[in-house]
Amino acid sequence: MNLYLPKQVILATLLTTFLYSCSKGKSSPEEPTITPTPEETLREKYSKSSAQWPVAEWYKNIEIRELAALPKNPSNDKVELIALGKALFFDPRTGNGLKTCASCHNPDTYWIDQKTTADGIALHHRNTPSMENVWYLEGNLFHDGRAKTYREQIAEAINSPIEMGGNTSSLSSKLMSIPGYVDLYESAYNNKNMTIEGLLDAIAAYSRSINSGQTAFDRFVQGEYKALNDQQLEGLHLFRTKGKCINCHNGPYFTDLDFHNLGYAVTNKGALDNGRFESSKLEIDKGKFRTPGLRNISNTAPYMHNGSIATLSELVNLLSQGMPQKTDQQINGILSPHIQNLRLSSKEQENIIIFLSSLSSEPIKTERPILP
Ligand code: HEC
Ligand code: HEC
Repeated sequence: MNLYLPKQVILATLLTTFLYSCSKGKSSPEEPTITPTPEETLREKYSKSSAQWPVAEWYKNIEIRELAALPKNPSNDKVELIALGKALFFDPRTGNGLKTCASCHNPDTYWIDQKTTADGIALHHRNTPSMENVWYLEGNLFHDGRAKTYREQIAEAINSPIEMGGNTSSLSSKLMSIPGYVDLYESAYNNKNMTIEGLLDAIAAYSRSINSGQTAFDRFVQGEYKALNDQQLEGLHLFRTKGKCINCHNGPYFTDLDFHNLGYAVTNKGALDNGRFESSKLEIDKGKFRTPGLRNISNTAPYMHNGSIATLSELVNLLSQGMPQKTDQQINGILSPHIQNLRLSSKEQENIIIFLSSLSSEPIKTERPILP
């Protein structure tokens, strides 16, 4: 009973204060009594399914595709076919005996060579792209999308005098004389009669089997809302809003699979690289390249189709200023209207770069095959 009275007193005091403030609120509207509900924090806004995230800043006429978790690779090739393709991928005899596919697409370094431009039989004018998730690129292979099929793309790599210097018209007869290859071929196709198409399809099957792994970003999208730290979360928001990156880098692989001119279409010899124009012959395609995916982007420097940009900070700084040209650099074609002066602060640029690091996965260890 002793405690009862003071409680009553407290309640009475609270009630008086409440009534007083209400009446005060009525007489002077400039002092509102209802405190507004605090705004959701950025983390609260993103701790939801991606369909409920804050609206992204899309340019007009862009097909809206939200960022998404890594999907399952739908390729369903026979293991024996993949095994034949893997042997060919690591075998210098697939080319002229000097280079293998893995000389440039090195599995220990995220399937790249870490060089500005590839170092083949001769010096290449383009940077080596990763092999991860290439199944997704069928129809648009190479930086300019000129190869529609794997057969086309792989035959070019083998025959190219700046890549492997090989010869697809004699490859099957050359390999038929190696009993181990006849066995591998027979397991893959139930047939000893090697054809070049059969060999190219095996390399394609192996290529399609190469994936990137799970990332912090994937865990975040799947509901583990602590998987991104505060800076990464800020970066994700900037990537979708002020940075405008999502307009081209979208979907589960962070690419629209479309072609854009970012103004750096030059070769390592300083000549203009026509990009998409080379295969389409359309004037509007001059200097356009396919939007690259961004998974494991922190692990695959240098950047761009020509490896001309060494670091992510250099690139994001240029993007922030609308890709200004370097001294003496000429622009080939017309800069994309979606590349603009965004004026991202250095802190904002840093947050975007730290967000990009959440797209990294552990390298998947690849055993070298025993060659026949
Ligand atoms: C000398 C280094 C080198 C060798 C050897 C090489 N590649 Fe490449 N690869 C490249 C370069 C450079 C490109 C980009 C060329 C371009 O866009 O014009 C590329 C592109 C590709 C692509 C397209 C990826 C994309 O993002 O569009 C695939 C797939 C590929 N190579 C697989 C292979 C296979 C399979 C072999 C072996 C038969 C091979 N490469 C041999 C350097 C090499
Ligand atoms: C207009 C479309 C577009 C926009 C907007 C855009 N990009 Fe890109 N991005 C591309 C294209 C196309 C390339 C390849 C250009 C080349 O190879 O010359 C590229 C290249 C890159 C690369 C190098 C990838 C590699 O493997 O070499 C990174 C990283 C990148 N962009 C990040 C971003 C970020 C971060 C933003 C936002 C600040 C952004 N991009 C905005 C289209 C775009």
